[in-house]
Amino acid sequence: MANILITGANRGIGLELARLLNERDDHVVAACRSSSPELDALGVQVETGVEVSDSASLERLNERLGDLALDLLINNAGILARTSLDALDFQSIERQFQVNAIGPLRVVTALKHRLGAGAKIAIVSSRMGSLADNSSGGSYGYRMSKAAANMAGVSLAHDLRPAGIAVALLHPGWVQTEMTGGRGDTQAKDAARGLLARIDELSLETSGGFWHQNGERLPW
Ligand SMILES: NC(=O)c1ccc[n+]([C@@H]2O[C@H](COP(=O)([O-])OP(=O)(O)OC[C@H]3O[C@@H](n4cnc5c(N)ncnc54)[C@H](OP(=O)(O)O)[C@@H]3O)[C@@H](O)[C@H]2O)c1
Repeated sequence: MANILITGANRGIGLELARLLNERDDHVVAACRSSSPELDALGVQVETGVEVSDSASLERLNERLGDLALDLLINNAGILARTSLDALDFQSIERQFQVNAIGPLRVVTALKHRLGAGAKIAIVSSRMGSLADNSSGGSYGYRMSKAAANMAGVSLAHDLRPAGIAVALLHPGWVQTEMTGGRGDTQAKDAARGLLARIDELSLETSGGFWHQNGERLPW
């Protein structure tokens, strides 16, 4: 049984990750700003008040977790605000950086003392953060923040390799969640299954890679 903490676990992909991991008898710590009836129904350890842009909330989480060691930390929380060049909202762009890019780094920094040799970190990024894959422009804050998240993940992979901790950057596909307004070609439970398969495969040798949940290696 592995101890696994997931951010943004109250809905969408995070909720399905919590459900699948609970079904395979891992100990799930479902971190979220506020819980949901669906999350409460899983019967996992729910930790509310976890705001990934707020270090104080992560310190309070640390106090509640006691001496729990983690085998896997899944940085899933994220936000999307579409912005076109004609109507840029710099506050919104900054907020997406706080949540999508700095958020995972903040969470890892707060919790990394719980990760030992053999532990793993996943960052749910997006192929919209791929420079090579950007063929349509727009979505400045989201694209820029996910590109920055990818860079943070690669640096983490280098910095944490000596400690035996592997890091994966993962794209969940185009998934039917609130983020996409229910559009998408993939159900959240299928995205979650693919993400877990990629995390299971992750090793120190492959640490720092960027994958689609279907296994395809993605370009930076
Ligand atoms: N859906 C897609 O097609 C798609 C594609 C590529 C990548 N992704 C990525 O996949 C991840 C999950 O997305 P999703 O589709 O499941 O979206 P979602 O249904 O909108 O869920 C987002 C989750 O993130 C949480 N969250 C947002 N801001 C937060 C903050 N400041 N602190 C803590 N938690 C916060 C939300 O909590 P609240 O309920 O409190 O807001 C919610 O639990 C995100 O990182 C997203 O960028 C999704």
